[in-house]
Amino acid sequence: MARILVTSALPYINGIKHLGNLAGSMLPADVYVRFQRLRGHEVLAICATDEHGTPAELAAAAAGQDVAQYCNEQHEVQKALGERFNLAWDHFGRTSSDWNKRLTQHFAEMLEANGLIAEVVEKQVYSIDDARFLPDRYVEGTCPNCGFEKARGDQCDNCGKLLDPIDLIEPYSAVSGSKNLEVRDTRHLQLRQTEMEGRIRAWVDAAEGWPPLAKSIAYKWLDEGLRDRTITRDLKWGVPVTKDGAPREGFEDKVFYVWFDAPIGYISATAEWAEATGNDWESWWRTDKGADDVSYVQFMGKDNVAFHTVSFPATILGSQEPWKTVDKLKAFNWLNWYGGKFSTSSKRGVFMDQALELLPADYWRWYLTAYAPEGGDAQFTWEHFQGVINTDLANVLGNFVNRILKFAASRFDGVIPEGGEPGEHEAWLAAEVDQRLKAIAAHYDAMEFRKAGAETRALWAAGNEYLTRAEPWSHFKTDRDKAAIGVRTGINLAVLSAIVAQPVIPETAAKILHAVGVPEGKRTWPADAGAVLLDALPRGLEFTVPDVLFAKVEDEQIAEWSERFGGAV
Ligand code: MF3
Ligand code: ZN
Repeated sequence: MARILVTSALPYINGIKHLGNLAGSMLPADVYVRFQRLRGHEVLAICATDEHGTPAELAAAAAGQDVAQYCNEQHEVQKALGERFNLAWDHFGRTSSDWNKRLTQHFAEMLEANGLIAEVVEKQVYSIDDARFLPDRYVEGTCPNCGFEKARGDQCDNCGKLLDPIDLIEPYSAVSGSKNLEVRDTRHLQLRQTEMEGRIRAWVDAAEGWPPLAKSIAYKWLDEGLRDRTITRDLKWGVPVTKDGAPREGFEDKVFYVWFDAPIGYISATAEWAEATGNDWESWWRTDKGADDVSYVQFMGKDNVAFHTVSFPATILGSQEPWKTVDKLKAFNWLNWYGGKFSTSSKRGVFMDQALELLPADYWRWYLTAYAPEGGDAQFTWEHFQGVINTDLANVLGNFVNRILKFAASRFDGVIPEGGEPGEHEAWLAAEVDQRLKAIAAHYDAMEFRKAGAETRALWAAGNEYLTRAEPWSHFKTDRDKAAIGVRTGINLAVLSAIVAQPVIPETAAKILHAVGVPEGKRTWPADAGAVLLDALPRGLEFTVPDVLFAKVEDEQIAEWSERFGGAV
């Protein structure tokens, strides 16, 4: 049994996440967590809301709320939505916690002790009308790279380039719209990443469990040359800057940069979990305290990779303390909305709360996992979604399970029949299923979700194929034993289909397993597919037929949803 720590990129607090956010980190992390738990591993699953920085302040201001109050409320909203999507975190924490404050200050002090922090004077945009500095997203203007007119100070949403607010052309304040801006000097802390380039490169070279997308992004950054990075901001909301445990002189009105404290949130959320449950967090995070044998897996969208392969490692390695670093890092491309982007600020696309108004979580979980933006960006369209749901879930899985259980209920009185011996059809099925089961496990281990999805679907399809071959209905009148082995194998195959479906569609899988009477303790990943097909359920066991597992998505619904959410842009 391995110990596996899984974290998902921490969602920003600034509003409910859209399906692209869900598909690119939280959902695949959860599928992986559930799979590894089924395999019998000890898994610790950690997530949290990312609550600092300009996204939080601006969203609070737009909502007309105090930022702490806004974060309290939005944290609860996101936590509840995660639960409704069945994201099985051990802990969903907050980066505004005391733990995160203490650990962030601790890391900064360790970095300083190791000579990796410099105090510098920088030029920053200052708004005279707002009487404040405008870091990051507080200033908007025209992108110097592509000419987009609503580029944000930290990044252009149009061309993706990372920006320095003072580079924007015709800048204006995002708070007041004022153009009455000037550039002023301000004191800040820099993390001297240039000093650490060699160490970080060696660490990336040594990394084995990173898929190509993650590694290539890390090298792109290293090859461009690391730059010293400012880790403080002129803001009020965030982790206060300290020195030797006391407020740092000259930094009373500053806080750490959100990207400095956010990844530390993985550690502090683990500590919060441990404190709440009487567990030990250091055995997950400190290699001198037992974390040596932990396998640490991170999930994130591609825009987060540099922060996890360069910036956060710089913090951790620079502390020169024995912290656990990531072993496997899985990055996703974008899920796009009709060729354009999902967008939180322009409310384009479907958001987590809206999705659940339309259909239960499992429909979304299947679509977003089995068609994840993995090899490249993926497109969401209503038509594609409809096709996938109706084919994979309604026709393939739903139809198979209902067909066999209904027939068995009416002809064999709702009990698993005795009699009959396995023959050629059962041998074909055992070989087929054994191979598929191994492939699914291998794909999940490699975090290849599309491939795992395709094999899962193929396993379900083998159910329909088996019934076509074994034809228990046509044998029923002439050879009851032959019909019995077909029914028994078919129902055992339904059990197997549900067991392997658990990571992706946990509610539906539980419904099936409950209907046929598989107790909770017997729902783990089977070592031997053949044995399950012969004997998953005892002969004579009573079962029930679940209601329709998946309703087809109708054309009228697609028309209505396209109208409501907009389609092509
Ligand atoms: N909030 C960031 C985003 O949504 C992700 C932060 S990941 C963390 O892009 F590790 F820094 F927390
Ligand atoms: Zn641009």
